[in-house]
Amino acid sequence: MQALLNTAIQAARKGGDLAIREFSRIDRLDVRSKARNEFVTQVDLAAEQQIIETIRRRYPDHAFLGEESGLSGQGDHVWIIDPLDGTTNFIHGFPVFSVSIALKVRGTLEAGVIYDPCRQELFTGIRGSGAQLDGRRIRVSRQVSVEGALIGTGFPYRSNLRWGKPYLAMLGSVMQEAAGIRRPGSAALDLAYVAAGRLDGFWEFGLSTWDIAAGALMIQEAGGLVSDLVPGDPWLDSGNLVAGTPKVHDALLKMLRPHLPEPA
Ligand code: IPD
Ligand code: CA
Ligand code: CA
Repeated sequence: MQALLNTAIQAARKGGDLAIREFSRIDRLDVRSKARNEFVTQVDLAAEQQIIETIRRRYPDHAFLGEESGLSGQGDHVWIIDPLDGTTNFIHGFPVFSVSIALKVRGTLEAGVIYDPCRQELFTGIRGSGAQLDGRRIRVSRQVSVEGALIGTGFPYRSNLRWGKPYLAMLGSVMQEAAGIRRPGSAALDLAYVAAGRLDGFWEFGLSTWDIAAGALMIQEAGGLVSDLVPGDPWLDSGNLVAGTPKVHDALLKMLRPHLPEPA
Protein backbone atom coordinates (compact mmCIF):
# COMPACT_ATOMS: atom_id res chain seq x y z
CA MET A 1 0.00 0.00 0.00
CA GLN A 2 2.89 2.38 0.74
CA ALA A 3 4.05 2.14 -2.90
CA LEU A 4 0.55 3.05 -4.09
CA LEU A 5 0.46 5.96 -1.64
CA ASN A 6 3.86 7.18 -2.81
CA THR A 7 2.57 7.35 -6.38
CA ALA A 8 -0.49 9.28 -5.19
CA ILE A 9 1.78 11.69 -3.29
CA GLN A 10 3.86 12.29 -6.41
CA ALA A 11 0.68 12.90 -8.43
CA ALA A 12 -0.83 15.24 -5.81
CA ARG A 13 2.35 17.31 -5.63
CA LYS A 14 2.42 17.64 -9.42
CA GLY A 15 -1.22 18.76 -9.49
CA GLY A 16 -0.66 21.19 -6.61
CA ASP A 17 2.50 22.64 -8.14
CA LEU A 18 0.63 23.28 -11.37
CA ALA A 19 -2.14 25.07 -9.43
CA ILE A 20 0.33 27.21 -7.49
CA ARG A 21 2.14 28.26 -10.69
CA GLU A 22 -1.16 29.41 -12.21
CA PHE A 23 -2.28 31.04 -8.95
CA SER A 24 0.24 33.82 -9.47
CA ARG A 25 -1.45 34.77 -12.75
CA ILE A 26 -5.13 34.15 -12.08
CA ASP A 27 -6.02 37.36 -13.93
CA ARG A 28 -5.23 35.43 -17.13
CA LEU A 29 -7.27 32.37 -16.19
CA ASP A 30 -9.90 31.06 -18.56
CA VAL A 31 -12.84 30.47 -16.20
CA ARG A 32 -15.82 28.60 -17.54
CA SER A 33 -19.16 28.06 -15.84
CA LYS A 34 -20.30 24.41 -15.48
CA ALA A 35 -23.56 25.46 -13.83
CA ARG A 36 -24.85 28.39 -11.80
CA ASN A 37 -22.06 29.43 -9.40
CA GLU A 38 -19.98 26.40 -10.43
CA PHE A 39 -16.75 27.09 -12.24
CA VAL A 40 -14.01 25.14 -13.92
CA THR A 41 -10.65 26.46 -15.07
CA GLN A 42 -7.96 25.04 -17.29
CA VAL A 43 -6.10 24.39 -14.03
CA ASP A 44 -8.75 21.91 -12.81
CA LEU A 45 -8.60 20.12 -16.16
CA ALA A 46 -4.82 20.11 -16.60
CA ALA A 47 -4.15 19.11 -12.98
CA GLU A 48 -6.56 16.19 -13.24
CA GLN A 49 -4.95 15.04 -16.47
CA GLN A 50 -1.51 15.22 -14.95
CA ILE A 51 -2.58 13.33 -11.82
CA ILE A 52 -4.20 10.56 -13.85
CA GLU A 53 -1.21 10.29 -16.20
CA THR A 54 1.22 10.04 -13.28
CA ILE A 55 -0.73 7.22 -11.64
CA ARG A 56 -1.61 5.46 -14.90
CA ARG A 57 2.04 5.31 -15.97
CA ARG A 58 2.73 3.23 -12.86
CA TYR A 59 -0.61 1.37 -12.69
CA PRO A 60 -2.01 1.05 -16.22
CA ASP A 61 -4.79 -1.36 -15.17
CA HIS A 62 -6.34 0.87 -12.53
CA ALA A 63 -9.60 2.80 -12.92
CA PHE A 64 -10.12 6.53 -12.25
CA LEU A 65 -13.03 8.59 -11.02
CA GLY A 66 -12.08 12.21 -11.55
CA GLU A 67 -14.32 15.20 -10.88
CA GLU A 68 -13.61 16.63 -14.32
CA SER A 69 -13.23 13.51 -16.50
CA GLY A 70 -15.62 11.10 -14.80
CA LEU A 71 -15.06 7.35 -14.66
CA SER A 72 -12.44 5.76 -16.88
CA GLY A 73 -11.32 2.14 -16.89
CA GLN A 74 -12.50 -0.62 -14.63
CA GLY A 75 -11.03 -2.98 -12.09
CA ASP A 76 -10.50 -3.56 -8.39
CA HIS A 77 -8.50 -0.36 -7.91
CA VAL A 78 -10.30 2.97 -8.35
CA TRP A 79 -8.56 6.30 -7.79
CA ILE A 80 -10.96 9.06 -6.71
CA ILE A 81 -9.61 12.47 -7.63
CA ASP A 82 -10.46 16.09 -6.95
CA PRO A 83 -7.65 17.94 -8.75
CA LEU A 84 -8.56 21.32 -7.27
CA ASP A 85 -10.84 21.40 -4.24
CA GLY A 86 -11.76 25.01 -3.65
CA THR A 87 -12.04 26.32 -7.20
CA THR A 88 -14.18 29.27 -6.10
CA ASN A 89 -11.41 30.32 -3.70
CA PHE A 90 -8.77 29.73 -6.38
CA ILE A 91 -10.36 31.99 -8.98
CA HIS A 92 -10.78 34.75 -6.41
CA GLY A 93 -7.15 34.58 -5.33
CA PHE A 94 -8.22 33.30 -1.89
CA PRO A 95 -5.37 30.98 -0.90
CA VAL A 96 -7.29 27.96 0.42
CA PHE A 97 -7.50 25.01 -1.95
CA SER A 98 -6.15 21.48 -2.18
CA VAL A 99 -5.67 18.35 -4.24
CA SER A 100 -7.43 15.24 -2.97
CA ILE A 101 -6.72 11.69 -4.11
CA ALA A 102 -8.15 8.52 -2.58
CA LEU A 103 -7.79 4.87 -3.50
CA LYS A 104 -10.64 2.40 -3.23
CA VAL A 105 -9.79 -1.29 -3.54
CA ARG A 106 -12.73 -3.64 -4.13
CA GLY A 107 -15.09 -1.01 -2.71
CA THR A 108 -13.07 -0.15 0.44
CA LEU A 109 -11.20 3.12 0.94
CA GLU A 110 -7.60 2.10 1.53
CA ALA A 111 -5.46 5.22 1.16
CA GLY A 112 -5.73 8.98 0.76
CA VAL A 113 -3.62 12.04 0.09
CA ILE A 114 -4.57 15.70 0.49
CA TYR A 115 -2.02 18.28 -0.56
CA ASP A 116 -2.26 21.98 0.29
CA PRO A 117 0.03 23.68 -2.24
CA CYS A 118 -0.21 27.11 -0.55
CA ARG A 119 1.27 25.85 2.72
CA GLN A 120 3.00 22.88 1.11
CA GLU A 121 1.40 20.59 3.66
CA LEU A 122 0.85 16.95 2.81
CA PHE A 123 -1.75 14.89 4.67
CA THR A 124 -1.80 11.13 4.12
CA GLY A 125 -3.60 8.09 5.44
CA ILE A 126 -3.51 4.35 4.95
CA ARG A 127 -6.25 2.11 6.34
CA GLY A 128 -4.91 0.39 9.44
CA SER A 129 -1.66 2.40 9.53
CA GLY A 130 -2.78 5.82 10.75
CA ALA A 131 -2.72 9.33 9.29
CA GLN A 132 0.22 11.67 8.88
CA LEU A 133 1.03 15.31 8.19
CA ASP A 134 4.36 15.71 6.43
CA GLY A 135 5.38 12.27 7.63
CA ARG A 136 4.42 12.83 11.28
CA ARG A 137 1.58 10.92 12.91
CA ILE A 138 -1.56 13.01 13.47
CA ARG A 139 -4.52 12.44 15.76
CA VAL A 140 -7.86 14.17 16.22
CA SER A 141 -7.99 16.65 19.10
CA ARG A 142 -8.96 15.73 22.66
CA GLN A 143 -12.03 17.97 22.53
CA VAL A 144 -15.03 16.32 24.24
CA SER A 145 -17.81 18.87 23.71
CA VAL A 146 -19.09 21.35 21.15
CA GLU A 147 -18.71 24.00 23.82
CA GLY A 148 -15.17 25.26 23.38
CA ALA A 149 -14.76 23.54 20.00
CA LEU A 150 -13.69 24.94 16.64
CA ILE A 151 -16.07 23.49 14.06
CA GLY A 152 -15.70 23.49 10.28
CA THR A 153 -18.58 23.50 7.86
CA GLY A 154 -19.68 24.33 4.32
CA PHE A 155 -22.73 26.42 3.50
CA PRO A 156 -25.26 24.89 1.14
CA TYR A 157 -25.14 26.50 -2.30
CA ARG A 158 -25.73 25.44 -5.89
CA SER A 159 -27.72 22.20 -6.06
CA ASN A 160 -27.63 21.60 -2.31
CA LEU A 161 -29.40 24.89 -1.61
CA ARG A 162 -32.46 22.78 -0.84
CA TRP A 163 -30.79 22.09 2.53
CA GLY A 164 -30.64 25.84 3.22
CA LYS A 165 -33.41 26.04 5.80
CA PRO A 166 -32.44 23.10 8.02
CA TYR A 167 -28.80 24.13 7.60
CA LEU A 168 -29.44 27.62 8.99
CA ALA A 169 -31.25 26.14 11.99
CA MET A 170 -28.25 23.84 12.55
CA LEU A 171 -25.85 26.74 12.25
CA GLY A 172 -27.91 28.61 14.86
CA SER A 173 -27.60 25.72 17.32
CA VAL A 174 -23.86 25.18 16.80
CA MET A 175 -23.18 28.94 16.97
CA GLN A 176 -24.64 29.09 20.46
CA GLU A 177 -22.29 26.39 21.75
CA ALA A 178 -19.06 26.39 19.77
CA ALA A 179 -16.00 28.57 20.32
CA GLY A 180 -15.92 29.22 16.59
CA ILE A 181 -17.19 28.08 13.21
CA ARG A 182 -15.10 28.18 10.03
CA ARG A 183 -16.04 27.86 6.35
CA PRO A 184 -12.68 27.92 4.59
CA GLY A 185 -13.97 26.58 1.24
CA SER A 186 -12.09 23.35 0.60
CA ALA A 187 -13.97 20.43 2.14
CA ALA A 188 -11.05 18.04 1.62
CA LEU A 189 -8.77 20.34 3.61
CA ASP A 190 -11.42 20.82 6.31
CA LEU A 191 -11.49 17.05 6.82
CA ALA A 192 -7.69 16.87 6.86
CA TYR A 193 -7.76 19.57 9.55
CA VAL A 194 -10.16 17.49 11.66
CA ALA A 195 -7.72 14.56 11.33
CA ALA A 196 -4.85 16.84 12.39
CA GLY A 197 -6.75 18.24 15.40
CA ARG A 198 -6.96 21.77 13.96
CA LEU A 199 -10.74 21.50 13.80
CA ASP A 200 -12.71 19.48 16.37
CA GLY A 201 -15.69 18.69 14.16
CA PHE A 202 -17.25 19.29 10.75
CA TRP A 203 -20.55 18.98 8.94
CA GLU A 204 -21.77 19.70 5.43
CA PHE A 205 -24.53 18.69 3.03
CA GLY A 206 -24.22 17.60 -0.59
CA LEU A 207 -20.50 17.02 -0.97
CA SER A 208 -19.16 14.75 -3.70
CA THR A 209 -17.28 11.53 -3.19
CA TRP A 210 -14.01 13.14 -4.44
CA ASP A 211 -14.35 15.91 -1.82
CA ILE A 212 -14.51 13.50 1.12
CA ALA A 213 -13.02 10.07 0.34
CA ALA A 214 -9.41 10.86 1.30
CA GLY A 215 -10.21 13.13 4.25
CA ALA A 216 -12.75 10.79 5.82
CA LEU A 217 -10.25 7.92 5.79
CA MET A 218 -7.69 10.19 7.47
CA ILE A 219 -10.15 11.14 10.23
CA GLN A 220 -10.92 7.48 10.93
CA GLU A 221 -7.21 6.68 10.98
CA ALA A 222 -6.58 9.61 13.30
CA GLY A 223 -9.06 8.27 15.86
CA GLY A 224 -12.11 10.29 14.82
CA LEU A 225 -15.54 9.36 13.53
CA VAL A 226 -17.38 10.08 10.29
CA SER A 227 -21.03 9.31 9.81
CA ASP A 228 -24.27 10.01 8.00
CA LEU A 229 -25.83 13.36 8.74
CA VAL A 230 -29.14 12.03 7.43
CA PRO A 231 -29.95 8.59 8.90
CA GLY A 232 -29.93 5.85 6.26
CA ASP A 233 -28.22 8.08 3.71
CA PRO A 234 -24.65 6.70 3.40
CA TRP A 235 -22.22 9.61 3.67
CA LEU A 236 -19.81 8.56 0.94
CA ASP A 237 -22.62 8.52 -1.64
CA SER A 238 -24.86 11.31 -0.37
CA GLY A 239 -22.07 13.66 0.71
CA ASN A 240 -24.12 14.59 3.79
CA LEU A 241 -21.71 14.01 6.64
CA VAL A 242 -20.74 14.73 10.21
CA ALA A 243 -17.21 14.17 11.47
CA GLY A 244 -15.13 14.90 14.50
CA THR A 245 -13.46 13.61 17.61
CA PRO A 246 -15.61 10.74 18.95
CA LYS A 247 -17.35 12.95 21.53
CA VAL A 248 -17.74 16.03 19.33
CA HIS A 249 -19.06 13.85 16.50
CA ASP A 250 -21.72 12.37 18.82
CA ALA A 251 -22.64 15.77 20.26
CA LEU A 252 -22.90 17.32 16.79
CA LEU A 253 -25.16 14.53 15.57
CA LYS A 254 -27.44 15.07 18.56
CA MET A 255 -27.51 18.80 17.90
CA LEU A 256 -27.97 18.68 14.11
CA ARG A 257 -30.37 15.85 13.41
CA PRO A 258 -33.43 17.39 15.14
CA HIS A 259 -33.32 20.14 12.47
CA LEU A 260 -33.62 17.70 9.57
CA PRO A 261 -36.90 17.80 7.68
CA GLU A 262 -39.28 14.89 8.26
CA PRO A 263 -38.53 12.10 5.75
CA ALA A 264 -41.00 12.23 2.82
C1 IPD B 1 -16.15 22.45 -3.27
C2 IPD B 1 -15.42 22.66 -1.96
C3 IPD B 1 -16.31 23.38 -0.96
C4 IPD B 1 -17.62 22.68 -0.75
C5 IPD B 1 -18.31 22.42 -2.09
C6 IPD B 1 -17.40 21.65 -3.02
P1 IPD B 1 -14.83 22.31 -5.65
O1 IPD B 1 -15.35 21.72 -4.18
O2 IPD B 1 -15.04 21.44 -1.38
O3 IPD B 1 -15.70 23.52 0.29
O4 IPD B 1 -18.45 23.43 0.07
O5 IPD B 1 -19.49 21.71 -1.88
O6 IPD B 1 -18.04 21.42 -4.25
O7 IPD B 1 -16.05 22.50 -6.48
O8 IPD B 1 -14.12 23.56 -5.36
O9 IPD B 1 -13.96 21.19 -6.09
CA1 CA C 1 -14.37 19.56 -4.55
CA1 CA D 1 -12.75 20.40 -7.76
